[in-house]
Amino acid sequence: MADPVSGFHAIGGALMCDGVALDAIARAAGTPVHVYSAAVIRDRFRELDAAFADYPHRCHYAIKANATLAIVRLMRQLGARADANSGGEIEVALRAGFRPDEIVFTGVGKSRDELERAIALGLHAINAESPGEVARIDAMAGAQGTRARVAVRVNPDVDAESHPHISTGHRASKFGMPVDAARAMVRDLVRRPHLQIVGLHAHVGSQITKRDPILKAAEAVTSLARELSAQGIQLEHVDLGGGLGIAYEPNQTILPPADYPAALPAALRPTGPKPTPHTGP
Ligand SMILES: Cc1ncc(COP(=O)(O)O)c(C=O)c1O
Repeated sequence: MADPVSGFHAIGGALMCDGVALDAIARAAGTPVHVYSAAVIRDRFRELDAAFADYPHRCHYAIKANATLAIVRLMRQLGARADANSGGEIEVALRAGFRPDEIVFTGVGKSRDELERAIALGLHAINAESPGEVARIDAMAGAQGTRARVAVRVNPDVDAESHPHISTGHRASKFGMPVDAARAMVRDLVRRPHLQIVGLHAHVGSQITKRDPILKAAEAVTSLARELSAQGIQLEHVDLGGGLGIAYEPNQTILPPADYPAALPAALRPTGPKPTPHTGP
């Protein structure tokens, strides 16, 4: 729960953020100035992280949400990991102090330079979006004499039930591969000497306010992970998104972070995916 002075509020005629008068900030910093509530960000992150206390888990902050260095640093201090969608976001994550093994890299439009950098850094996972990308990463990792950690992005054909422009997991969206194609990608990937399969990834959209899309996406990914495991292909993690919605209207119903685990399928609950052991400091 946010403390009483968290976020934006008015005292008398003065607009405040986390108890600090905005006009004082404007005088000190000049305008235009962007002000964010660190207290609200802290509360929100802790709520989500605490909801998963019974799971081996990591919450990755999608830097695309806000790449302001102070915010990315704050997320790191809170214990988040990073989710980068471009080479620029990888650099922001590094500048904020994230280690490469704390960063995942997703995106349908990864360039050659971005992939080469991601491979050289040894990121926690590069989420591959197509068979062609798997082949490219394998060739690049081979040229670098290394082995890249790769996860496969699944398109579970789920309607996020939010705005169509921020729904990323339905059949018509360009993100990820349908389950059958994802299965084939994993089988191809495990045969490649310069790749290590580490996980499956699905992101079905932003501003999710209902359980159903989360459940359906997690079911699709979990059942594929179990099938692969039965065939001897062990994954380190499943990586599930997207983001929980906020209330834009006074009485809008949202899914509170504390209720997120209850939206996951039973198959994911008992043990949870095993995260990679923490390396480095
Ligand atoms: C792979 C991935 N991660 C993260 C995001 C950020 O969205 P959210 O914070 O709602 O999960 C997106 C948005 O499209 C995405 O595609």
